[in-house]
Formats: sequence, structure tokens, C-alpha cells
Amino acid sequence: MTISAIGIVGAGTMGSGIAQVAAQSGLDVVLCDIEQRLVESAVRRIDAHLERAVVKEKLTADDKQAALARITTSTDLGALSAAQVVIEAVIEDLELKKSVFTEVASVCPEDTVLATNTSSMSVTELGAASGRPDRFCGIHFFNPVPVMRLVEVIRGVSTSDATVAVADELVERLGKTVVHVAKDSPGFIVNRLLVPFLNEAARLLSEGVASIEDIDTAVKLGLNHPMGPFELIDMGGADLTVTVLDYFQAELGSDRYAPQPVLRRMARAGLNGRKSGAGFYQY
Ligand code: 3HC
Repeated sequence: MTISAIGIVGAGTMGSGIAQVAAQSGLDVVLCDIEQRLVESAVRRIDAHLERAVVKEKLTADDKQAALARITTSTDLGALSAAQVVIEAVIEDLELKKSVFTEVASVCPEDTVLATNTSSMSVTELGAASGRPDRFCGIHFFNPVPVMRLVEVIRGVSTSDATVAVADELVERLGKTVVHVAKDSPGFIVNRLLVPFLNEAARLLSEGVASIEDIDTAVKLGLNHPMGPFELIDMGGADLTVTVLDYFQAELGSDRYAPQPVLRRMARAGLNGRKSGAGFYQY
């Protein structure tokens, strides 16, 4: 298959990042969300990122306009019917994702490949909800999508080789590097490693071993990570970190994934980093 058009459901940070990269790679993009203001705000963010690249002379003004012209938005999932691949990037709520796939499958032709950008949840379970588990897989991007080079392609139990080949082609077209996750398991590779690490940083803080600043500095300078664990929690949100840890604890059957109380307190208080304007550095 030569991919020329994709659909994205969910115009948040991940969905808009995927839309930006796809449009810059020459693909037509339909970006859907439930409210017009959400898709409009996504296009404004994409416009701002592209403008920054123009100012830095990394992109021409014509290429910026061409990329923006490739993106159409809609609040109607019916607009996805011409897409060859549809990527779901809504919030980490399994039931919501399932209902999105039931609806997307009802409007897209049989041969459209459906994919989830879930950070941790079961690709097999979501594939079953889509009614086309063989033409379903995980295509997991990292934040910020335009910058991060990796994409995980995840096989559900029933995912066909042809579907993986389509996902691989898309990732290559977007200029990213693919790693294959052979077995559908919570958090796949990166988040299975990362999220317990973030939880352990919160444990160090709670035990009084070191301050937020010193833990972040230690990781940045001692491990050469671009961001410390608290900066990363603030980027994704304490709420997302807790959701993934709760999922790990339930699905992997181990209390070692239980979220640290400080993370849950922050999530409950709405202190979700960049999403709320207040996170660990203001706590
Ligand atoms: N969108 C688009 N581009 C962005 C961006 C964004 N949100 N943020 C930064 N950039 C671009 C800038 O335009 C700049 O591009 P240029 O080099 O072409 O000019 C480049 O990134 C560097 O940006 P800055 O100079 O402003 O800032 P830094 O050098 O501090 O880099 C960072 C910022 C890229 C975010 C870097 O700190 C980083 O790589 N952090 C680690 C991010 C990470 O670990 N992500 C994975 C999170 S886990 C995940 O995504 C899993 C999922 O399931 C939630």
C-alpha cells in the first residue's frame, strides 16, 4: 500500500503532533475531535510550531502553508472514511477508546488499518472492539512527536503481518525509527521502563532522600537524560502517570507498580503539570 491519507482521532498533544509530522511528510490528514474549539486549537498549535521552524529557517513559508493545507479538521468521525490508516489518540480511558473504535470501524472501509496510540493499554482488547482485530495494531508515538524519533509498533494477538507492514510503511514515511513489540503487554517497551522509574523518583522524594531539583539534576547530569523524572511527570501529567501505574498494577498483578501517594494527591488536586499550569515545581 502507498499511504497518502491518514485520519487521527483526538486533537490533544499527541494527536496534533502526529498530524503535524504527517502533514510535513506530505500526507493528507483528517484530524477529528468532539468539539470544534479542540481541533481549532490543535491547528493553532501546529501553525505556531511550523512558524517557529520558518523563523529558524528550517522550513520555508511555502512548505509551512502546504503542510497546513494538507490538514482538514472535523467533529464528525464520518470524515475519516477516505483515510487509509486511522490512529486513535484520545485520553487513556479504555472504554472511551473502545467506543471510538466501534464508531470508526462503522464509517471506514474494511481494508482501512486502525491503530491506537495508547501509551500502555491492551492492543488486543482494543482490536477486538474494532471488529477487525487483524487490521488493527498499536502505533505508539512519543512526546513531543515532531522531535522524538521512536515509534513502537505493537502487535495484538490477531494483528496480521500485512497490518504491521502498513504501520512500518507509515512510520518510515514519517521519518521515524520503528521498534516492534512482539507481544502485547502493558506499557510495551518504553513506558514499561519509564513509568516505574518515574514512580521510583516520587518514592525517593517522599522518603526525603533528595529534593525535586536534585533528583532531576542527578538524572540529567548523571544519566545524560534531556529531562529529569519530575520534569517528565509535569510534561505528561501526574494524572497520566497514575493512570498507567494503576493499569500496570491491575494487569501485571503486582503491588510494586502501585502509584506513590504523592502522585495520586497531585492528580486528584488537578496539579497535572503543563496541562494545568502547576506541577511538581509549584507543589
Ligand atoms: N513540539 C514540537 N517541537 C518541539 C516541541 C514541541 N512540543 N518542544 C520542543 N520542540 C523542538 C524545538 O522546536 C526545537 O527544534 P529545533 O532544534 O529544530 O529548533 C527542539 O525541539 C529543541 O527544543 P528546545 O531547544 O526548545 O528545548 P530542549 O532542547 O530543552 O528540548 C525536548 C526539549 C525536545 C522536549 C527535550 O527536553 C527532550 O527530548 N525531552 C525528553 C522528552 C521525552 O523523554 N519524551 C518521552 C516522554 S514519554 C512518552 O511520550 C510516552 C507517551 O506514551 C506519553
